[in-house]
Amino acid sequence: MKTSNEQLMEKMKNHESVQIGFTKIYADGNPPWEIGKPQPPFEEIADQVMSPVLDCGCGTGNTSLFFADRGLKVTGVDFVEEAILQARAKADERNLSVEFLVKDAMTLCEWDKCFASIIDSGLFHIFDKDELGLKQYLKGLTHVLKPGGRLFLFSFSDKMESLGVDGMTKQELYKTFADGWEIESLKLVRGECNPIFVAEFPEWNPNNGEPKMWFAIIRRKE
Ligand SMILES: C[S@@+](CC[C@H](N)C(=O)[O-])C[C@H]1O[C@@H](n2cnc3c(N)ncnc32)[C@H](O)[C@@H]1O
Repeated sequence: MKTSNEQLMEKMKNHESVQIGFTKIYADGNPPWEIGKPQPPFEEIADQVMSPVLDCGCGTGNTSLFFADRGLKVTGVDFVEEAILQARAKADERNLSVEFLVKDAMTLCEWDKCFASIIDSGLFHIFDKDELGLKQYLKGLTHVLKPGGRLFLFSFSDKMESLGVDGMTKQELYKTFADGWEIESLKLVRGECNPIFVAEFPEWNPNNGEPKMWFAIIRRKE
């Protein structure tokens, strides 16, 4: 019998049911990644993020709102309507202006927009390493990011294998961004998780053991 954590991982990895899976996670409440603020590495590099910003897979908008509060022009997209509704409500509450759109990241290639910075906090690793979806997503990022613009990426690493997660190795990341991109910095960092989730699954406590998430700054070549 699979634990609910294993079922959650399966839902997130099965490409066909991925949107249904995420919609259900938001409907159930308390997604594991919902921490009410950006993941710590985004706060550390905040000065390097330039306007206009795209927050891709923005969830309930915590990172978008952080950068909007710093005076940046931000667009947040997510393919789950409930997440976007919650993001808009947070923006209203905080009197911040952010464009939050229900949008599938697979469709970025069809979008007539250009950003100086893209935030990806937990979306990239949802695509299976060898699937066409990842290629389509990268093509879309290249389409909407201006030459010289930067992708700020927070993503599962291969150090998370024991948690049932198939994150990339350093070599795989470099290979993925070999054409048209330059990885300017890459380090392992600690991510934060919703405390309710950590109480149920202590093995996900980010303070256990070594840092296990990648944080990369990746420039789109001119
Ligand atoms: C792990 S969560 C991270 C949410 C948010 N970035 C954060 O750090 O709190 C991943 C988000 O990506 C969204 N997502 C997954 N696949 C997507 C796609 N193809 N297009 C748009 N959003 C997607 C999910 O709905 C979810 O909100």
